[in-house]
Amino acid sequence: MKSSLLSRLNDAEVAAFCCCAADAPGWQREVEDFLRASALRSTEHVVGLRDDEDRLVGVSCFDPVTITELPLPNPVKVRGWSLLVMGVAVDHQGNGHAKTLLRETLGRMKQIDETRTVLRARAHADNAVSLRLLISDRLIKADVGER
Ligand SMILES: CC(C)(COP(=O)(O)OP(=O)(O)OC[C@H]1O[C@@H](n2cnc3c(N)ncnc32)[C@H](O)[C@@H]1OP(=O)(O)O)[C@@H](O)C(=O)NCCC(=O)NCCS
Repeated sequence: MKSSLLSRLNDAEVAAFCCCAADAPGWQREVEDFLRASALRSTEHVVGLRDDEDRLVGVSCFDPVTITELPLPNPVKVRGWSLLVMGVAVDHQGNGHAKTLLRETLGRMKQIDETRTVLRARAHADNAVSLRLLISDRLIKADVGER
């Protein structure tokens, strides 16, 4: 696997990228629609993970933002990142690629601007894999709230 910071994916790659099984729940279809229709086309940074034959295995999309919600008692403005969405191609899921992609993404963020130290990411409450991913290995310290 190799990762790269993509300026843009071509239309054929965007159209072909499928991270959602046909019988997936609605919220997962929304993730895929958002990725293909919006995030892959308009976020400032896209990281692509490719296999040895250069096929796209996973993507993550992130933007620089000003975080205004922290700390909770007395919020201050902090320059950070918003990780909008991640996806791993359906036929490659369950092999640890999301974990690799997240590490690569965090590395790219640091490379681009190491002064941005806060990351904002949201996961659907039913998205057990993403919640697991966010807290695994203490890559990210996450508070998983009640529904
Ligand atoms: C979410 C997604 C990116 C995960 O990709 P993946 O490559 O299959 O994930 P990984 O194989 O790296 O697994 C990540 C972690 O989730 C765990 N996991 C995998 N399947 C799981 C499941 N069904 N329930 C709970 N945890 C699960 C893995 O064990 C791993 O945790 P660990 O490292 O502590 O063992 C992928 O399923 C996807 O693209 N889904 C559709 C789009 C989406 O929902 N994106 C996230 C919202 S932005």
